[in-house]
Amino acid sequence: MVLSCILRERRLRWERGDEVVVSPTLFASDKHDWETPQWLFDLLDEEFDFQIDVCATPENAKCRMFWMKEQDALSRTWDPWGAGFAAWCNPPYGREIKHWVKKAQEESAAGATVVMLLPARTDTAYYHDYIWPYACEMRFIRGRLKFVGGASAAPFPSVIVVFRPGRTGPPRVSTIERPQ
Ligand SMILES: C[S@@+](CC[C@H](N)C(=O)[O-])C[C@H]1O[C@@H](n2cnc3c(N)ncnc32)[C@H](O)[C@@H]1O
Repeated sequence: MVLSCILRERRLRWERGDEVVVSPTLFASDKHDWETPQWLFDLLDEEFDFQIDVCATPENAKCRMFWMKEQDALSRTWDPWGAGFAAWCNPPYGREIKHWVKKAQEESAAGATVVMLLPARTDTAYYHDYIWPYACEMRFIRGRLKFVGGASAAPFPSVIVVFRPGRTGPPRVSTIERPQ
């Protein structure tokens, strides 16, 4: 019953031309805190040596140092040591995602390297306003990610976006594949 309602809503949204991101598995609730697969974080951490996870809870934090909703990373500096360290950011995937992308761009202008895991929605305003002009890399992930806690693979493609201090876009494009 629930599934048929979701599918009907999905068809209606498709017919209306709305953004179609409804999945019975991934978007059945308002939950937006889908945790990064560990293999992907480890792959990037080896390269960037992340010092802080700016969007986390104690249960899903990927770094020893992290910020939570209560501390509000959007109102803080992402390189608290001013040392040019790298911040990891897998933001909440709600409408507020644009604020996180804007903040990442601002923090990289202020000296932090910021690496984000984002849905590859390349037509959105936040891609055109902040990623195309300012990000230095986009690494498209081959296949759909299976987020920690998700029953199946995500219904959208994902991309890693890298902002580095002193660098601008357009981003260099490459791909990432899960190691066998
Ligand atoms: C997609 S999850 C990321 C989980 C994990 N840190 C990872 O990298 O996979 C987003 C997290 O951001 C947290 N969050 C939401 N608003 C926040 C805020 N204003 N400041 C810091 N964290 C926030 C949520 O509680 C959630 O745990």
